Amino acid sequence: MRTTPTPSSPSPAVPPTQTQPIAQRRFNLADEEATIAFGRAVATTTQLAPAETGRGAPTAGAVIHLQGDLGAGKTTLARGFMRAYGHEGAVKSPTYTLVEPYEFEHCNIYHFDLYRLADPEEFDYLGTEQYFDPNNLCLVEWAEKGRGWVPAADLRIELIERDGGREACCAALSTRGAELLEALVG
Ligand SMILES: Nc1ncnc2c1ncn2[C@@H]1O[C@H](COP(=O)(O)OP(=O)(O)OP(=O)(O)O)[C@@H](O)[C@H]1O
Ligand SMILES: [Mg+2]
Repeated sequence: MRTTPTPSSPSPAVPPTQTQPIAQRRFNLADEEATIAFGRAVATTTQLAPAETGRGAPTAGAVIHLQGDLGAGKTTLARGFMRAYGHEGAVKSPTYTLVEPYEFEHCNIYHFDLYRLADPEEFDYLGTEQYFDPNNLCLVEWAEKGRGWVPAADLRIELIERDGGREACCAALSTRGAELLEALVG
């Protein structure tokens, strides 16, 4: 039997996120406090030294996609993450601004919420290349709204509602992500 060769399609701006994770792990988060503590724990795995209040911490950077339905707890996790970096102020969902920068002496963290992107290509108009410097940390809510344009994740964390609490399904999608997940498991 003969097979028809698949025509090659044009490359997207960013290759699609690797679909086969290198490693996966699930964590139960009973309540909001547990999600905040989990966000802190994830942040700690990205730090090369402890954080100092208001100054951040040295890091080798990472791209972390936060997935899950509306109200799943993505921003709550991001709040814990920022706390671990010594940020004491508010951590609001950047729903309208699309990105909220947290620029410290020791590191830069960018928190994206792409829910309101009407078209994935709009992500390119935001001029975000400088945010995705390998030394920076980028937390991205609703990365799927910028599919094909948002840089691939090292670590993907999906939050799913379970019995009133949440389950965090973590997938390492790069060697950096695997390193972080291994540190998270301890
Ligand atoms: N482990 C948990 N168990 C129960 N409730 C939780 C848990 N974690 C977070 N929540 C609650 O979920 C609600 C929504 O949280 P949050 O705003 O972080 O969601 P989100 O995923 O960022 O939503 P959106 O997609 O709209 O940005 C908050 O009221 C928070 O208290
Ligand atoms: Mg949110």
